Amino acid sequence: MKIIEDISEMQRYAAQLRQNGKVVGFVPTMGALHQGHLSLMECARRESDHVVVSLFVNPAQFGPKEDYNKYPRDLKGDIEKVAAIGVDTLFTPTASQIYPEGYRTYIEVEGLSDILCGKIRPGHFRGVATVVLKLFNIVRPHKAFFGQKDFQQTVVIKKMAEDLNTDVTVIVFPTVREPDGLAMSSRNQYLSREERISAAILYRSLLEARLLFEKGEHSEDKLRDAITTTFMSEPSSQLEYVAIVNGNTLQEETDVQKGTVITIAARIGKTRLIDNIIL
Ligand code: PAJ
Repeated sequence: MKIIEDISEMQRYAAQLRQNGKVVGFVPTMGALHQGHLSLMECARRESDHVVVSLFVNPAQFGPKEDYNKYPRDLKGDIEKVAAIGVDTLFTPTASQIYPEGYRTYIEVEGLSDILCGKIRPGHFRGVATVVLKLFNIVRPHKAFFGQKDFQQTVVIKKMAEDLNTDVTVIVFPTVREPDGLAMSSRNQYLSREERISAAILYRSLLEARLLFEKGEHSEDKLRDAITTTFMSEPSSQLEYVAIVNGNTLQEETDVQKGTVITIAARIGKTRLIDNIIL
């Protein structure tokens, strides 16, 4: 596996790959890799000739009071994991290369980046869209792979990729879960043993809504009530929001149908977790 730190070197190498007719698949990550990330890479492996993974903890997507400094980092472990699954190139730029002194350009995806998680984390999706576009410009992939776990992120990135004529096909891969249903996340490392057990309530609440929906309940209010009631049974958890939305526009959907998305954000102790299901 080739490891590239330098932006210009990555750009030269990416140009070469394209010239040689390789289909380049790209998986951007912030590291602290778990099976969710690795499954995404395996999917990229199946669907491309050359897989590039980036590992960059993006300061622009963390708020001033968020966990940028304590975000888990494990470069050595991550290198071993990606090499083991046959990733071709690992790109690990530094923050000062991506955002040099005097950096001024940011991407705002209006109407999608300022709602739901964007309302609670102002500037978060501006940081995500900006870094992903920069990475697309550096890696020049044909296809880019993102996890459904971060549903709003996939909607923001698809819109950005389309609006800015990036010519990158955005592929969304289903959420990989722990045996008790908890969506795998680098932030699960923050949970204490008790919190880790409580955290399964996010997915349990979503499943409750799916069950009701499958029994014929299509009222948004009823589904929301079922989620909230199930969620409240776990005292150490605090619900931030439940949203029942259209999967393309993220607008609230009153007539719930197949394909409607339910997203949930919550705090378990101090740790913020998100999850979603597509009905
Ligand atoms: P990160 O949280 O490291 O996630 C990298 C990719 O892995 C994202 O597309 C995310 O949705 C996916 N992923 C995470 N957990 C997953 C799971 N349990 N199952 C399936 N896929 C999962 O998301 C980011 O980094 C950043 O915002 C990034 C896109 C890299 C921009 O900085």
